[in-house]
Amino acid sequence: MDAEALARRLEAIPRVPLVNEPTPLEYLPRFSAAIGRPIYLKRDDPIGPAMGGNKARKLEYLLADALRWGHHRVVTYGGLQSNHARITAAAARRLGLEPHLFYFAPRPSRLTGNLLVNDLLGAHMHFLPFGGGTRPRSLAWTDFLVHLLAWVRVGRHYFIPVGGRSVLGGLGYVRAALELHRQAQAEGLENAWVVMAVGTGGMLAGLWAGFTLLRSPLRLLGIDIGALWKNFPTTVARLAERICARLGEPHRFSATEVPLIERTYAGPSYGVPSPEGNETLRRLARMEGILLDPIYTAKAFAGMLKQIEKGQLGKGEPVIFLHSGGLPALFAFEEQAQDSALGEPG
Ligand SMILES: Cc1ncc(COP(=O)(O)O)c(C=O)c1O
Repeated sequence: MDAEALARRLEAIPRVPLVNEPTPLEYLPRFSAAIGRPIYLKRDDPIGPAMGGNKARKLEYLLADALRWGHHRVVTYGGLQSNHARITAAAARRLGLEPHLFYFAPRPSRLTGNLLVNDLLGAHMHFLPFGGGTRPRSLAWTDFLVHLLAWVRVGRHYFIPVGGRSVLGGLGYVRAALELHRQAQAEGLENAWVVMAVGTGGMLAGLWAGFTLLRSPLRLLGIDIGALWKNFPTTVARLAERICARLGEPHRFSATEVPLIERTYAGPSYGVPSPEGNETLRRLARMEGILLDPIYTAKAFAGMLKQIEKGQLGKGEPVIFLHSGGLPALFAFEEQAQDSALGEPG
């Protein structure tokens, strides 16, 4: 399918604009010189309301659906420093909807980072001091559980799965795939690698579906930052299939072909910064004046550098790192960020 045909299919699906497109593609001159190949950032970090991030693209379709069905309340959930929950709350407020956020944790004594922003937005935060844990979970089961709890606590609502991970949410990243495909062509970066952090896999599934439909030569690599889910590659492949079907272009995706490195760079666990990630965060900040977040993008960027070092991303080809946001979490991990034990980056 060519770019124009895909654009037409996307335009036929209701969407509320929350993102200023196209987001910039920025060259990192000092970092590229240090690594020995061109490194670019796709700036999806500042997009959308209340400090932004990748979920804004997903919410364009999800909240259009909520409005279409006449909902007034929006429910979602996530880890305590969920960027998704915070952006959902902000986007809901922007559209005059009432945000309800569920957390499987006791209410912290101090609201920091994303939780502080939620509080400023007047989001209804429901802290449930059970569940959670670190064992891999089933995505569908947890979604079902929260949906059910929300019926009891909130009443009629529009439910958004964790991370905005759904067919509609994924369309936001099909749109992004189209945007990036066009930008890469315009910049002569057709053979680039596109690397990003993977949490629930929605962004990866959307980009994968988009690049596949476009037969884009861009090569994708997702880096898992949480090791959270059971049968993760299978769920990503199924979601990519459902996204293509929604666009009227059925396609089979195999779990063995999912462009994902599971677990290796997730650090201690989901929601906990890794020493390698923190070191990378400082390195990029000092060389380019760009901030990553400690939970998603810093771990993924560190993983990307390791993959380059191991020779897994070809030889000298350009790399586009998709910066997906998450910056409020920087202010929830102040101690780790300032910990001198992290050392000076090279
Ligand atoms: C900053 C940031 N980057 C990346 C991701 C991963 O996106 P996805 O859940 O679509 O895999 C998330 C959310 O989970 C996020 O908040």
